[in-house]
Amino acid sequence: MAITRRQFLKTALGAGMALQVPGVLFHAFSAGAATANVREFRFTASKAKVNLGRGPDFVAWTYNGQVPGPEIRVKEGETIRVYLKNFLPEETTIHWHGLPIINGMDGVPGVTQAGVQSGESFIYEFEAGSAGSFLYHSHVGYQLDQGLYGPLIIEPAHDPGNYDREYTLLLEDWVMKDGGGVAPTRRRSPMGMGMMGAMMRGRRFRNNGGPLLEPVYDGYAVNGRVSPAIEPLTVTKGERVKLRLINPSSSTIYTLRLAGHSLTITHTDANPVEPFKTDVLRIGMGERYDVEFKADNPGFWLLSAMETGGGEGQLRIPIRYKGVQSSEPVPPVFEGPLRFVTYGDLQTKLPDEGPSQGRIDRGFRQVLRGGMHSPYWTINGRVYPNAERLVVKKGDRVRISYWNRSMMPHPMHLHGHFFRLVNPSIAPDMWILKDTVIVDPMQGMEIEFVADNVGKWFHHCHNLYHMVAGMANTVVYA
Ligand code: C2O
Ligand code: CU
Repeated sequence: MAITRRQFLKTALGAGMALQVPGVLFHAFSAGAATANVREFRFTASKAKVNLGRGPDFVAWTYNGQVPGPEIRVKEGETIRVYLKNFLPEETTIHWHGLPIINGMDGVPGVTQAGVQSGESFIYEFEAGSAGSFLYHSHVGYQLDQGLYGPLIIEPAHDPGNYDREYTLLLEDWVMKDGGGVAPTRRRSPMGMGMMGAMMRGRRFRNNGGPLLEPVYDGYAVNGRVSPAIEPLTVTKGERVKLRLINPSSSTIYTLRLAGHSLTITHTDANPVEPFKTDVLRIGMGERYDVEFKADNPGFWLLSAMETGGGEGQLRIPIRYKGVQSSEPVPPVFEGPLRFVTYGDLQTKLPDEGPSQGRIDRGFRQVLRGGMHSPYWTINGRVYPNAERLVVKKGDRVRISYWNRSMMPHPMHLHGHFFRLVNPSIAPDMWILKDTVIVDPMQGMEIEFVADNVGKWFHHCHNLYHMVAGMANTVVYA
């Protein structure tokens, strides 16, 4: 998954020079111009035996027999066409998380399409909009937590970036048993569930067909490998290294730190921000951060997460400078005077050009609850599909105010749009654009978006166990 940037630039430069020769230019145009910017991918969804590098093989739900699924990497403006064939025992779909594409390709069963039945096929086709780090995943039941996800990277058409090397890192929570997240396993009782939670702990809880509680994960993987089987990332002293951090986990927020280095945030959810230096970075389910660091501190270091604990199960990503021999990587310490980035620290590089600044056409208040004596999670007291429809008109400037009245954080995700985080401390035209935002326990959060993508769009908590337990509704164009 690594590309040496210098190699890439060398190749690109070579191609550019060739194009200056008129004959070659003509040839390039005559050779299948019609299909030149359609990129095709073939995906088979099926159960397959996998091994994450520790423990016995187990059966996961996979694209093309692998976890994570294959990387989709295209250029801005190209068309992505994915032939999906479903060999799973139940229906499936693919959702292109964060991409504001046409509604019919968004991959939400019962909202934008019928589920693709077992044995059937579906062709997804849409234009890759602007550059950035994205992911794709199944949007049916618990399939995301069984292995059905993968990275989707859109490279800028022109800007080659100011870095020498890049790595794409998917941070994955795993139940390493047949069926993954639906395997019989210990379940985590949500905070506040009291007696009932205590009673449910230690066994699988389906509440007569009701939702599952979150599992207790037994492995944190990066790109389908768990420690100690994770190959160290290699860097060379003096390089600028870009990391695309992508969190397809079903219910794990990671608080990350790289030992020996600070990280400079350049993008969140594919959108560029003014570079911001931090020691610690928190990334929720569905969120992405592109970060860079300067390789100026030779050694053997660990990038790891605070909440995945110690020992074998920990998320541990070793980073080794070329030529450094030591066998044990140095872990980060989460103590002392650390810079800990918050959303409010970030400013967009894409100023708001909308003519409607300051005007709000429609406002929705969304109260998030759950976990108290109930396995259900709600928005304004409703359990999806028995949920609200947030009705908007094309061209509206829409504000959503979240109010989290529960003891769990909820990474709220809106399909089909980027939204701006309302930040009273900075000017509206500097508000960052995202598609997923963590709303912390007992906190509020406001977002604003322009209704510019007609359709019926899913809107939900990206904790998969909260989503399936009802914490979802739809934004619908009138
Ligand atoms: Cu990545 Cu509706 O989700
Ligand atoms: Cu949630």
